[in-house]
Amino acid sequence: MGLLIGVPKETATAEKRVATVPDVVEKLVKLGFSVAVESGAGDAANFADDTFRAAGAEIVPTAAELWAKSDIVFKARVPSPEEVGLMREGGTLISFIWPAQNPELMQQLAAKKATVLAIDCLPRQLSRAQKMDALTSMAGISGYRAVIEAANAFGRFFNGQITAAGKIQPAKVFIAGAGVAGLAAIGTAANLGAIVRANDTRAEVADQVVSLGGEFVKVDYEEEGSGGGGYAKVMSEGFLAAQREMYAKQARESDIIITTALIPGKPAPRLITAEMVQSMKPGSVIVDMAGEQGGNCELTVPGEAVVRHGVTIIGYTDLVSRLAKQASTLYSTNLLRVTEELCKTKDGLINVNFEDDAIRGLTVVKDGAVTWPAPPIKMAAAPAAKPAAAAAPAAKSHGHGGGGEPMSAKSLATVFGAGALAFMLVGLFAPASFLSHFTVFVLACFIGYMVVWNVTPSLHTPLMSVTNAISSIIAIGALVQVAPPLDAAGAADRPNALILGLAVFALALTAVNMFGGFAVTRRMLAMFRK
Ligand code: NAI
Repeated sequence: MGLLIGVPKETATAEKRVATVPDVVEKLVKLGFSVAVESGAGDAANFADDTFRAAGAEIVPTAAELWAKSDIVFKARVPSPEEVGLMREGGTLISFIWPAQNPELMQQLAAKKATVLAIDCLPRQLSRAQKMDALTSMAGISGYRAVIEAANAFGRFFNGQITAAGKIQPAKVFIAGAGVAGLAAIGTAANLGAIVRANDTRAEVADQVVSLGGEFVKVDYEEEGSGGGGYAKVMSEGFLAAQREMYAKQARESDIIITTALIPGKPAPRLITAEMVQSMKPGSVIVDMAGEQGGNCELTVPGEAVVRHGVTIIGYTDLVSRLAKQASTLYSTNLLRVTEELCKTKDGLINVNFEDDAIRGLTVVKDGAVTWPAPPIKMAAAPAAKPAAAAAPAAKSHGHGGGGEPMSAKSLATVFGAGALAFMLVGLFAPASFLSHFTVFVLACFIGYMVVWNVTPSLHTPLMSVTNAISSIIAIGALVQVAPPLDAAGAADRPNALILGLAVFALALTAVNMFGGFAVTRRMLAMFRK
């Protein structure tokens, strides 16, 4: 008989998440576990008791009963002292714990002889750990929601529009801190059509910012901000002064600022001062996602939205919970992946195996002994560069990085070889007057090819206009050949049949280019019409 996993209703105010969802219950049952859910635990996230029941869970009426009977408890928020009081002696708990900030809770759990896996202590640098990474999944959700909250409080569109009533400028959004939450915010704001700029102390994120449609703004001061493991370090006073100067400029220019800057185990860096808020246009919005760690903005009131100097400053600390269904689904999937690692035998029993780096990192209390912090993991290679490298190909596919793929050296050599040979043959047999025209023609083709090949995809539309202009010149030239101007006597100097044929052919080709160009442009413009 497998162990019983219990999921209580979250007790923190305004917490709407639930630590498991019906789809995950089915998978836990397949792993050999029984699942019990407190009645009403999923209500706020739109998962009714009946849906849990249908997935194979037992519904338990009270929290006390649920904690008492569960071998393993899944939770989202850090448990309260009352909840730990209800916990069964020797039980297992998987939840957010934040051991550094909650030493008393750690002692209480140890006194219960519990085994505790803190999802916030996952060694994120292990690629195997990504599927269990609740910090990342939750940060992605809050970054998205921060933009939605900003859009809600902002009295204008995000995208620029040209309407009969006039031209609307796109909103300018500045994102401070381009970690997981910041990148999600950049992507969301860019998708809504805003002009997005972002800054981070870690230079390695610049490519990622660009790949999501943002522009990376550098601080004019040389200092690397990486503190290891993909996290930031506390910066020098010189850097911070230069950064404040740049942020002051961004604040004056931006309509919306979203701050996400954090340094693990340290208070959030103060990046937006009261003067910067004052310098923003009335109606601007700041969303400070670092409220719980003291805030990135001096005027933030954690948990609230306030208006200061005409600027709405949103300091909500429950952004994740505001997308409760999505957050519960992702979080419970992260917990399912942890459970799979604990129960490789698929028999409903768990093995807290300290040989496994991921499990070792997660376990902060084992059978009543505090095992946090885990010893550092020896990595074969520096992990921090990976996300940046992964983002680089994305940049190309988004069309921000420049033209298409260049030719390989081998094929380039073949083309040049063949070209040189043909040129030599022409030089040997053609008349001298032809040769000079031909040289100009070949060079023009070569330069044209190089220019077109290196044009950034976003400039293809203007390029098309240029080729249309060239087509017009060709068309005029061909028309002059087909219908030559009359001389004083009224006679025309008719070209011979070959030239006439070539002129007609050139006219046909260039007509295809011109009318095709107009057709494509019309289609492109139609895409932007509402
Ligand atoms: P976080 O929430 O601790 O920090 C958010 C961001 O604030 C970071 O990008 C940090 O550099 C930035 N920041 C700190 N001080 C700043 C300042 N004074 N000015 C401007 N920005 C400042 O970090 P998060 O988002 O949890 O993770 C950060 C990074 O960790 C990710 O971007 C990723 O590179 C790495 N990571 C790697 C994983 C993996 O290898 N599998 C998994 C998860 C994260």
